[in-house]
Amino acid sequence: MNARPLTIITGGNRGLGYELSHQLFKIHHHDILLTARDINKAREAATRISSGVNNGNSIRTAQLDVSSSESILRFVSDELDPLLASLAQQGNGQSLVTLVNNAGIYGQGWRETLVTNVVGPGLLSRKFLEILPQTLKGRIVNMTSGLGNAANLPSTLLRQLEAQPPKSPEEIVKWAGNWEQDETGHANPYNLSKHLLNYMTELHAKEGHGRAIAVIAVDPGWVQTDMGGQGAPGTIQQGVDRMLAQVLADEHESMKRSGKVFGDGGTCYDWKRH
Ligand SMILES: NC(=O)c1ccc[n+]([C@@H]2O[C@H](COP(=O)([O-])OP(=O)(O)OC[C@H]3O[C@@H](n4cnc5c(N)ncnc54)[C@H](OP(=O)(O)O)[C@@H]3O)[C@@H](O)[C@H]2O)c1
Repeated sequence: MNARPLTIITGGNRGLGYELSHQLFKIHHHDILLTARDINKAREAATRISSGVNNGNSIRTAQLDVSSSESILRFVSDELDPLLASLAQQGNGQSLVTLVNNAGIYGQGWRETLVTNVVGPGLLSRKFLEILPQTLKGRIVNMTSGLGNAANLPSTLLRQLEAQPPKSPEEIVKWAGNWEQDETGHANPYNLSKHLLNYMTELHAKEGHGRAIAVIAVDPGWVQTDMGGQGAPGTIQQGVDRMLAQVLADEHESMKRSGKVFGDGGTCYDWKRH
């Protein structure tokens, strides 16, 4: 019998991250590690999710600010590493551990956007790949956006990227940390952040391949969260359905999807086309 899957979610206190945590816990019997930059908000969210549910699943919380490398490293050493080690020790070799890089910001400054949406998920994924015990199965799901498609970026930047495509996730993290906006044809920071996250998905997928760790990006569509606004055409449920399609996919299917971006109806699309 397979052990219960564990899903780790960043920015799980509201929006898509909250609703995904809620449904995975209540309906799909996943153990959850719900993280938020404000630990009190993480605890409140976990209390709401678990209230009245007695299905034997566990929901833990941890503080994690993905815009801070200090916070990420502390989370990894104090929370994630011990938790994964204890799972491995229990002999739950069948356990699937999924990291959902969900936390993100829109409409904010250049540096802050790249740090939160690219540098943070890059470092967290790197650490996850490094410390995941060999006996556990792993998966990474990155939250991207159609705004990250090449069609939504300046051609000067695309030419730069095509001439010298990034070779490693660390190179992307370095670019995202060092670029100035005018060096990229004044790209919209959010669009660029999601474009780079797609590249990172491809590169981490190559690394994960040998260990059968799938790395997938999912575009939830424009939906009615605080970020999407109440005028968005899609519901939170429609966004969550797209996320669930990747988190719940079986291992074989998930490996076939690794490195790609998935949107409407669980279909994959070409985000480099312009
Ligand atoms: N909604 C859409 O239409 C849409 C479309 C495409 C892609 N997406 C992507 O889907 C993901 C979730 O979006 P959403 O619509 O649920 O957004 P949301 O309602 O604005 O929620 C964003 C979540 O991210 C957290 N967050 C922001 N910065 C953080 C940081 N530095 N450290 C930790 N957590 C942080 C927020 O926490 P606080 O409460 O502390 O701020 C919140 O929990 C994002 O990556 C977004 O880019 C959304």
